[in-house]
Amino acid sequence: MSTVTTAACVQRQPELLGQTVVVIGGSTGIGLETARRARAEGADLILTARDPDRLHRVGLELGAGITAFDATDFVRLGRFFGELPKPVDHVLVTGPGPYYAPLAEFDFKAARRDLEAHILLPLQVARVAASKVRPGGALLFMGGTGGRRTAPGFALISALTAALPAMTKNLALAPVRVNLIAAGDDFRVIQFTPPGSGCSVIFGKNVTASTPGSAQGLYLIVSDIEGARNELLGRGVEITEVFHDDAGVYAGTDQPYLFGRRRVSGRDPEHRSYRSFASFSDPDGNGWLLQEITTRLPGRIDPASTSFASASDLARLVRRVYGGGTGWDGAAEMNDHDAIIPRRPREADRTIK
Ligand SMILES: NC(=O)c1ccc[n+]([C@@H]2O[C@H](COP(=O)([O-])OP(=O)(O)OC[C@H]3O[C@@H](n4cnc5c(N)ncnc54)[C@H](OP(=O)(O)O)[C@@H]3O)[C@@H](O)[C@H]2O)c1
Repeated sequence: MSTVTTAACVQRQPELLGQTVVVIGGSTGIGLETARRARAEGADLILTARDPDRLHRVGLELGAGITAFDATDFVRLGRFFGELPKPVDHVLVTGPGPYYAPLAEFDFKAARRDLEAHILLPLQVARVAASKVRPGGALLFMGGTGGRRTAPGFALISALTAALPAMTKNLALAPVRVNLIAAGDDFRVIQFTPPGSGCSVIFGKNVTASTPGSAQGLYLIVSDIEGARNELLGRGVEITEVFHDDAGVYAGTDQPYLFGRRRVSGRDPEHRSYRSFASFSDPDGNGWLLQEITTRLPGRIDPASTSFASASDLARLVRRVYGGGTGWDGAAEMNDHDAIIPRRPREADRTIK
C-alpha cells in the first residue's frame, strides 16, 4: 500500500484561445479591463461604446474589432448582432452607470433611461444575441450591490439591482448560459449556472462569514474521476493523483474528513461508487475533494429536467452508459459533472467558425 500526497501541475493553455468575446461598453472601466484580460487569454475581441474616438484608441491597443453606437438604441443593437460575421463565445454587457437622486429631485426621464440601460438592455441582448453564441458560451450582465443598501437617492438603483438576479435566473432557462456579476466595493458576487444544470453556484467577497481557507473536506461529486481530474489539470490546477480510501478506515492523518483519511494510490479497484477521489485546494486554501459516483439510485433524477448543453455531451453520455454499463442513471451523472466543472467548448461543439 502506498499513500498519495503529491500534486501534479501542467502548463495551461490560454483560457479563451480561439474564442470571441463581445463587450458592450468596452472602452473604459470594467468592460475595458475585462477586454484586456480576455485578450491576454487569447480571445478575439469585438468592443462597442458610444464615443468613437475613445473606442478607436482601445481598438488599436487591443487589436479589437470596434463598433460605436448607443446600446440603448435597440434597433441598432439588433443590427449589430445581426451583422456579426460569425458566432461568438461570450457577450459582456456593461454600459451606463446608475442614476441616483433624492426623491425631491427625482427626474423620471432619467429614471426611465436607467431602467432601459439596466433592465431592458440585458433583456434585449438576451433576445438578439442568444442565437449568436456558440454552445458553451455565455451572456454576462453587470449588476451592483445597491440593492443591499438603504440610503437617500438609492430607491431606483436598489430596486434595479435587486431585480437583476431574478431576471438573470429566468433568462438562464434559455439554451444559452446567462450570468451576472454584482460589482461593488465591499461585496462581490458571481452567480453562474452551468449548462444543463438546474443548480446555480454563487461565490464572491463577503458572501460568507467564514475565513478564506477555513473550509476543508468540501465534496464535489463527479461521474468520471479521471476525466474531471484531467480537466482540472488542463486548466493548470494542482491536484493529487486519483486515490481510494483504505478499506473504510476513517481515522488517519492524511486529511481531516470522512473518506480519504488513509489514501491508497489509484482508483478503487472495483470501481465502486463513492470510493475514488482526488483532492485540490482553491486559491484561498479551501480543500476540495472530488468523489466519483458511478451509480445513482432510481428516483434521484427528474428526467423532465435533465438536459444537455450539446449533442456531443449527450453522445458522450450514451457511449459511457452503454460502454460502461452504468444504466439509465448515467443521465444524472453527466449533469453532476457539468454542474461542477463547466467545460470549455470542445471542437465538436464549434460547428461554425
Ligand atoms: N465600477 C463599479 O464599481 C461598479 C459598481 C457597481 C455596478 N457597476 C456597473 O457596472 C457597469 C460598468 O461600470 P464601469 O464602472 O465600468 O463604467 P464606465 O467606466 O463608465 O464604463 C462604461 C462603458 O460603457 C459605455 N457605455 C455607457 N453608456 C453606453 C451606452 N448607452 N451604449 C453603449 N455603451 C455605453 C462607455 O463608453 P461610452 O461612454 O463611450 O459609451 C464605457 O465604455 C455599470 O452599469 C455600472 O452601473 C459598476
